[in-house]
Amino acid sequence: MANSKDTVYPLIKEGKLPRHIAIIMDGNGRWASERGLPRMEGHRAGANAVDKVVTCCRKTGIPTLSLFAFSTENWKRPDNEVKALFDLLNIYLKKKLNTMIKNEICLRISGDTSRIPEKSRKLIDSAIQKTSSFTGMTLNICINYGSRDELLCAIEKIIKNRISSGDIKKISSKPEWREIEENLYTSGLPDVDLLIRTAGEQRLSNFLLLQAAYAELYFTATGWPDFSDQDIYLAIMEFQKRIRKFGGLNEKNKTMEKIHE
Ligand code: IPE
Ligand code: IPE
Ligand code: MG
Repeated sequence: MANSKDTVYPLIKEGKLPRHIAIIMDGNGRWASERGLPRMEGHRAGANAVDKVVTCCRKTGIPTLSLFAFSTENWKRPDNEVKALFDLLNIYLKKKLNTMIKNEICLRISGDTSRIPEKSRKLIDSAIQKTSSFTGMTLNICINYGSRDELLCAIEKIIKNRISSGDIKKISSKPEWREIEENLYTSGLPDVDLLIRTAGEQRLSNFLLLQAAYAELYFTATGWPDFSDQDIYLAIMEFQKRIRKFGGLNEKNKTMEKIHE
């Protein structure tokens, strides 16, 4: 059988792995509607997919995995759906903390946590504290996250730091990219190499726009609840085929240039 789990994995094993995979986990609602189920059931099935994908990325040796769990725009959804999503997050954190510890996964949260329900915040704080020393993989869950909000918060932090430094010249000087980066929620994480969106939409929906400046984009029609190990491997296989240039020339072009010199 072409491209089954067992045939794809050996293919990606020898190639260069992305240092940072970011996933827009979309399509829970449609997955449920297609089955005549309430949207909530789609989110529940989506939480199981999270579990599978985290385990798969850890086993495969992906250093950083970012998951878009709740956007700054998702507050527009009905209150009962928002509540259900945070309830699922609480269940996930309670159920998976020991697995994270066992697998040496370091949990990070990107987003404005001040607005998220207190119970979730407490569970998050405790899980972050208990996993902060681990280096097996960083799991960066993006909650109440939006790139525009992240940038505004970074600017606010920079202004505050500059004012408190008391250095008049520094206050109005043009920031370097490093200063912005250090004040993003994702500070210290590598740039996104591979950005995956499920369920057929081909847009970024305010997700890691700066960090994904040179990410390879991969869109799949598979809805998030059906996303499996094989889908991750296929995305990585596609990533390994792409030629990344970062605005420069790739190796083949450079050689051609030399020949014609
Ligand atoms: C993704 O699934 C989960 C969240 C955005 C929290 P959706 O709920 O967006 O599913 P669709 O897009 O309605 O199918
Ligand atoms: C993006 O999905 C947010 C998450 C996956 C958490 P949405 O379903 O909210 O995005 P749009 O509204 O289709 O752009
Ligand atoms: Mg959606």
